Order: sequence, then structure tokens, then C-alpha cells
Amino acid sequence: MMRDLNGKVAVITGAASGIGLALARGAQARGARLVISDIRADALTEAAADLARHGEVLAVPADVSDWTHVSALADAAHDRFGAINLLINNAGVFASGLTWEVSLEQYDWVIGVNQRSVIHGIKAFVPRMIAGGHDAHVVTIASGAGITVNPGFCTYSMTKHAVVALTEALYLDLLTQRVSNIGVTIVMPGVVQSNIMFPEKTGHAALQDELKARQDNPVLAALEAVMRAGVDSGLPVADLVEQVYAAVMARDLYVLPNFTSDVSRAQAQAIAMGRVTATDPYPALIAPWLQ
Ligand code: NAI
Repeated sequence: MMRDLNGKVAVITGAASGIGLALARGAQARGARLVISDIRADALTEAAADLARHGEVLAVPADVSDWTHVSALADAAHDRFGAINLLINNAGVFASGLTWEVSLEQYDWVIGVNQRSVIHGIKAFVPRMIAGGHDAHVVTIASGAGITVNPGFCTYSMTKHAVVALTEALYLDLLTQRVSNIGVTIVMPGVVQSNIMFPEKTGHAALQDELKARQDNPVLAALEAVMRAGVDSGLPVADLVEQVYAAVMARDLYVLPNFTSDVSRAQAQAIAMGRVTATDPYPALIAPWLQ
């Protein structure tokens, strides 16, 4: 169990902006050495230069949707630091759309960035965490959209549901395989101050017209406007960072940052806590392996 981040090594994807950059700053403030990664090389270089003023930073440009990139990121991180203690699967994109109108290219893009990225992160880092036996933790920055579905959210909700399930599966597999050195945390924020409402910054050239066109549908335009306003006035990233690292130290499986009213928190907890079969195993046969 990880008691602190002092001297530990944290790898964070999508770390050139928003939540990822704040998590990098937060890990560094807690004494961690950093491996930061992002698809936008220029923004990553800028973030790395700033972070390097306060501690050791390795910056590795990578597209998380591409296995060869994530595999190379893992190799670079291990070559530099030997053992990785914390992997934060953070990179993600949001663009509204209607289920039948979103192009196959856009579906593939969001599936790649939000969903395949977490498969890649797990496969590139977890085997070496298991082999090393050192204190380690995997965090997935999912979303409240990973347990709820909103209109216009088809690509986002679908992929966030998938990574919630995948990360829960990771948690359960580590339990049954008696791997005790790796903790798992799933973060499900509502709206948090960041640059997520500007998917144009990383969408492929071929997607730019489609990303612009989502403003043509009055319902989607209104939804995006509400979302932008929500993100602008959302939870400050620093608050999210506190909650994430507290959960890592406590080995909490779920973090539900924005569900602040008693009712919404209870609802969210009920949804999240009922998901994992660890407390009510099915089939009962596997119960002994989930203790
Ligand atoms: P952001 O847009 O500020 O940061 C995302 C970063 O990911 C950017 O630096 C971007 O360049 C990078 N990125 C995009 N595609 C990439 C790719 N293919 N490979 C590598 N990096 C890539 O957005 P934010 O909000 O900081 O997003 C971080 C995570 O938080 C995402 O997974 C998002 O879905 C999640 N989230 C955000 C919420 C919010 O309200 N801001 C709410 C719930 C979840």
C-alpha cells in the first residue's frame, strides 16, 4: 500500500492541460518524480519546462490511442526510472453528437483516446508492476458519464462506461490473482475546470468539419453551451487533485468528486458501489478468490 508519493514515480497521460497537468503538479508537490505525456508535443514541452523548475520530469509525446506509442512511453519511463509506482490514465476527449450522425471516424477517434488508451496503459504498465512487487497504483480518470448517460453524449458515455468496467475488472483480477502491491482507483468527476470543451485541439484534420458542425444542431449547441459554462465554473482542478491523491493513499476504488449534495452523493455511491461483484460475488464459486 502506497503511504505517500515522496520519491515515487508517477506517469500521467494527457498531462499538458487541465486535470492531467494539475495531477502532475499535485504529484510533484507530494515529492514524486514525473513522466508526463500528451499528444500535443508543444504544449507538453511547455508543461515540462515549468514542472522541471521544481523536480525531475521526463516528457514523452504519445498518442494514447496508439499501442506503439504507449508501449514506447512505458519503455522510456522504465529505462529512466526503473520502477513505476503510479499510472494515471487521464487523456480523454469530449464532443457531443447524435448516435446515428457521428461519423465512424469520430467514433473510432473517441474510442481510441478514451477507451483503448486505458487498455494500452494497463497492458504497458501493470505486468511490470506485478513483476516488480513494489508499491503501485493505477488511476483511471473516467467520468460521471461512466455511470450515467446524457443526451448528445453517445461517444463519451459509451467510452467512459467501458473504462469504468475495464478498471473494475482490473481491480477484481488483481484480487483473484492475489496481487496485493497494486491499488486501483476510478475517478468519476462531473464538471471540472479544464480545456475539455475544445476537442478541435487534438481532433484529426479530417474531423474538424464535423466538430464544427455539432454547433448546427440547436439541441447540441445548447448542450455544449451549458457544458462550457459548467466546465468554466466547475470544480477547481486543485480540489479534484486533493481527492484523487487522498483516494490513492486510502486505496479507495471510487472517487465521486462532484456529487456534493447528500442526495446526489448517495445516488452516485449506490450506483458505483453496486457495480463491483466483490461484495456479492457471482458466481459464488469465485468468492474465496475475492477475499
Ligand atoms: P483537457 O482537454 O484540458 O486535457 C486533456 C489532455 O489530453 C489535453 O492536453 C490533450 O492534448 C490530451 N489528449 C487528447 N487526446 C490525446 C491523445 N490521443 N493522446 C494523448 N493525449 C491526448 O481536458 P481534461 O478535462 O483535463 O480531461 C482529462 C480527463 O478528465 C479526460 O479523460 C476527461 O474525459 C476527464 N473528465 C473531465 C471532466 C471535466 O469536466 N473537465 C469531467 C469528467 C471527466
